Amino acid sequence: MSGAKHDDPRALLASYLTQLAEAGEKDICLSSETVALVRGAASSQSGESGAAQTHERPRASQAPDVSQGTSVPLNRAVERPRETEAPQRLSVGEKAALLPELEPIEVKLALGPATADPDMFVEASHLGSCTCLDEIERISLACEKCELAGTRINVVFGAGDENADLMFVGEAPGANEDREGIPFIGRAGALLDKIIEAAGFRRENVYISNILKCRPPNNRTPLSSEIAACVPLLAKQIEIIAPRIICTLGLPATQTLLGVKGSMGSLRGKVYAQGNLKVIPTYHPAAALRDPKYKRPMWEDFLRIRKEYDKL
Ligand code: URA
Repeated sequence: MSGAKHDDPRALLASYLTQLAEAGEKDICLSSETVALVRGAASSQSGESGAAQTHERPRASQAPDVSQGTSVPLNRAVERPRETEAPQRLSVGEKAALLPELEPIEVKLALGPATADPDMFVEASHLGSCTCLDEIERISLACEKCELAGTRINVVFGAGDENADLMFVGEAPGANEDREGIPFIGRAGALLDKIIEAAGFRRENVYISNILKCRPPNNRTPLSSEIAACVPLLAKQIEIIAPRIICTLGLPATQTLLGVKGSMGSLRGKVYAQGNLKVIPTYHPAAALRDPKYKRPMWEDFLRIRKEYDKL
């Protein structure tokens, strides 16, 4: 400590750390503020000033590899982020647990015969006797209840775990889904997969379906007549799967299930409940692909799903 000013604690600390570094200490971790403080002291101690420094100071991202056993000049000590700078270290479950509780809004889901077109009753009674998804799928494959039967390549019935506690309901198949007969396998599907995984779920453990089982030409918005014709299939799927949480993706799915009008912005961010089934709406992944501003609220909705799921 020969060069340190003994009356300046900053200079003493700087001198001590310099000695540690020169002695081969490999892992000197300091908060950003301490580094700034000590650098200031070290500069004045060595006579450096501003631009006239002998060594250029690397930014944190350029920190040397101290694992190689080289001596570490003080001005290259590794900056350790403060605890408060590292919330990303929380697991998704921990982040979800931090969300405030939301009182569920009681609803009557608009999936029963009362909300549908009279024609639907015939379909509904056929469906009424189904006891497994395969039987409903067989009915859907033969369905000609709307004009989409004439333009589809495949009926996209749904995919996933028949016993899932978590179900996603999208709008309608797109071109890729129509070609393959599997929901959400295009770009929107890739984003959905990513968010599902990021929220700590696995695609094979959830169930994914759509309001419409056939692709509308040019991916246009489903007509209310098409929704009315198709929704009994979804209602029966939901009855058999008996999920505890349904996440509706986008406006048509949200409005159809909840039986309400309103914008996505006004409908999301809430938990709806019918008995022990909860509905959590969020934006459609295609909307988030078109405009990234939807990614943040979408992620918040997925944290909400995580939170509710962890309470099951
Ligand atoms: N968009 C949807 O709503 N559903 C799909 O299956 C694919 C894209």
